[in-house]
Amino acid sequence: MLDFTDQRVLVAGGSSGIGLATAVLAAQLGAQVTIASRSTRRLEAGAAQIGHGAQTAVLDLTCDADVARFFDTSGEWDHVIVTGSDVKIAPVRDLPLGDALQAFNSKFWGFYHLASSVRIAPGGSLSVVAGFLATRPVAGRALMGAINGALESLVQGLALELKPVRVNAVSPAVVAGGMWSHLSEQDQAAMYARVGATYPAGRVGTGEDIARQLLLLAATGYATGTIVTLDGGASIA
Ligand SMILES: NC(=O)c1ccc[n+]([C@@H]2O[C@H](COP(=O)([O-])OP(=O)(O)OC[C@H]3O[C@@H](n4cnc5c(N)ncnc54)[C@H](OP(=O)(O)O)[C@@H]3O)[C@@H](O)[C@H]2O)c1
Repeated sequence: MLDFTDQRVLVAGGSSGIGLATAVLAAQLGAQVTIASRSTRRLEAGAAQIGHGAQTAVLDLTCDADVARFFDTSGEWDHVIVTGSDVKIAPVRDLPLGDALQAFNSKFWGFYHLASSVRIAPGGSLSVVAGFLATRPVAGRALMGAINGALESLVQGLALELKPVRVNAVSPAVVAGGMWSHLSEQDQAAMYARVGATYPAGRVGTGEDIARQLLLLAATGYATGTIVTLDGGASIA
């Protein structure tokens, strides 16, 4: 049984999707949870859903100076989980270069900024959600695969540089909700059914699937430099 009683857990990107599911579960397991993201409105709605006295912090991971300032004053964390990113994806030849750079800036450099200034207790952990496209390329999503591959490599290098802080990643395939919320409910349901049928697990992931894995890595003192591909078997399909 996982127990995070009285541990300070920050979920950067915790106002929706996988991050919110992780924050909810961490709070249920006793953690003192703070969620951080850009939008006050989304943070307040997230904190209300989490309950258990969850705190919020407005933070844009793409702004290095803001991230450094935040960690100067926020004290030491036991576990930090990063799910925050805002990425537009299209085939390389269809995506304006500015959008491609913005995607890297958000998901890769956002995590890099955080990793360069976060303060985590010895034996505590830093985790990020990368993605199975790092090792299982899909046409039309080459850029996302490159970002996730860069993140996975960074995670393993950081596990050496930041020890005794542990650094890990979870790499999912499609996870329902979250970044797909811009689609209508009908389109989401159709996509999840179509894509899930191609996965050996027979369905796409849920935020709770990924949340459990993230918290298991955080709670496992032996886990560092670990990349867990949690994808319903999508990589081997
Ligand atoms: N869902 C999937 O199918 C899937 C699959 C593989 C990997 N992933 C990865 O998992 C992560 C989470 O995905 P999700 O589906 O949970 O997405 P999501 O629901 O869109 O959540 C993204 C979160 O990040 C925050 N955010 C975005 N840009 C930020 C920034 N610059 N600084 C701080 N916070 C920021 C958003 O809140 P604000 O708008 O308030 O900032 C939101 O809370 C992403 O990195 C995604 O690439 C997702």
